[in-house]
Order: sequence, then structure tokens, then C-alpha cells
Amino acid sequence: MSRLAVFLLLFACTRPEPAAEAPAPTPAPPILAPARTPAPAMSYLGADWLTRPERLVEEQPDAMLDALRITSGMRVADIGAGVGYHALRIAPRVGSAGRVYATDLQPEMLELLRARVDAAGLTNVEAVRSSDSSTGLPDATIDLALFVDVYHELADPAAFMRDLRRALAPRARVVLVEFRGEDPEVPIKEEHKMTVDQVDAELGTHGFERSERHDFLPWQHLLVYRVRQPN
Ligand SMILES: C[S@@+](CC[C@H](N)C(=O)[O-])C[C@H]1O[C@@H](n2cnc3c(N)ncnc32)[C@H](O)[C@@H]1O
Repeated sequence: MSRLAVFLLLFACTRPEPAAEAPAPTPAPPILAPARTPAPAMSYLGADWLTRPERLVEEQPDAMLDALRITSGMRVADIGAGVGYHALRIAPRVGSAGRVYATDLQPEMLELLRARVDAAGLTNVEAVRSSDSSTGLPDATIDLALFVDVYHELADPAAFMRDLRRALAPRARVVLVEFRGEDPEVPIKEEHKMTVDQVDAELGTHGFERSERHDFLPWQHLLVYRVRQPN
């Protein structure tokens, strides 16, 4: 072996090991909402249930809307409006300067809704067809999006709420009214109820954080969310 070869061999053997790199910190696991099976959408064939007189006592729709401080000129989306039980009550609150976008998945519900809007002589309510993944709403427009007894029926809540964010105006509020899942006395099927923890966790994964909670309704949670701002 030549002297050069011996030298190179020795150098290779004695070269110090590179300092061991510190292991990369393990990223915090994402906070995942527990899996939940969406309830099937309530069929238009049962639409009469949405206008049953007992609703006034069980759900207090006017007191619920009072708590939302809806004012003239606002653009409100009644998401999953059904036959417009709430949209028709919101219309006079936003007045002629405002607008109600009443959305639904089922064209038959929207037909029933249009008939009620026409019968009431309202000109500021627009019926909008939604899909499982799209609200059908215009960009950056909605000041308040109201889901009454709807969120738990969304077949693809992640896609739907992502699309809703596109449609929200700055500082918009998103309101969920859901039957209380914590309360066995509320006489509604379990799949149509949600707990506050469930709603908070799911809305959290969709980029929202809760700003208000009202507990005065007899059977339902009234929960208000806003888009979570980066710290
Ligand atoms: C239990 S009803 C409630 C109707 C109305 N919010 C009310 O309180 O009278 C639920 C409604 O949500 C609608 N819905 C379900 N998924 C929807 C979606 N992805 N987009 C729009 N509407 C939806 C159903 O078609 C149904 O009309």
C-alpha cells in the first residue's frame, strides 16, 4: 500500500463523527372532534312538523332571534331553512335594506318556502339551493349564518363549513341552534341532538371559536361562533 493510501485510510478512520442532531420536536397532535354519523336530512314530506303550533312554546323562535341582535340592513343566511319558519321572522328584522338568503338542500322545501314568502308579501327573501358541500351563497356577503336544527344533518360538514367561510363577511357570526344532547329529558331522537362539547370541537376543526352561549331556550343550545383569528 502506498504512503498516500495509508494516510487516507487513517484519516478516514479517525475523522470525528458529525455531532448527533437533536431529534425534531414531535408536532402536537391535532385536536380531532370524535367521529359522528350525520343524521339523515329531514324530508319535505314531514314539512308540517316545522310549522306545528307547539314550536312557539318549545323553541321560542322570537326570543331566540331577539338574542341574536339582528338589525336593519343585515344580510342573514337561514341555512337549511326548510319552509322558512325562521326566514319569515328574520325578514322584517333586516328590513328592505337587508336580505335573507334562505337555503335548503331539497328543491321541494324551497318550493314550499317560496309559496310562504309570496303569501306574506316579502321581497327581501331569496331562496337558494345548497348541496352537501356548498352553501350556494355569494362571496363575502353574510353577516349572520343561522343553522336551526340543521348542522347535525350536514352530510359533509367540513366541506360545507369551508364553503360557508368563503361566503362570510368580515366579523360575521355563525349561530347553531341544536337540541341539547346532554339532556335525556329533551324528547328528540339522539341522532338529532348535539352536546356543547361536540359542537365546540367540530366547529373548532372547521376554524371557528365560540363567542357566545345562551341557555334560556327550553330544549336547545344557542351557540354563536366567529372565524378564529390567527394569534
Ligand atoms: C329539521 S329541518 C329544519 C328546518 C328549519 N331550519 C327550521 O328550523 O324550521 C332541517 C333542514 O335542513 C336541510 N338541510 C340538510 N342538509 C342541508 C345542506 N347541506 N344544505 C342546506 N340544507 C340542508 C334539510 O333539507 C331540512 O330542510
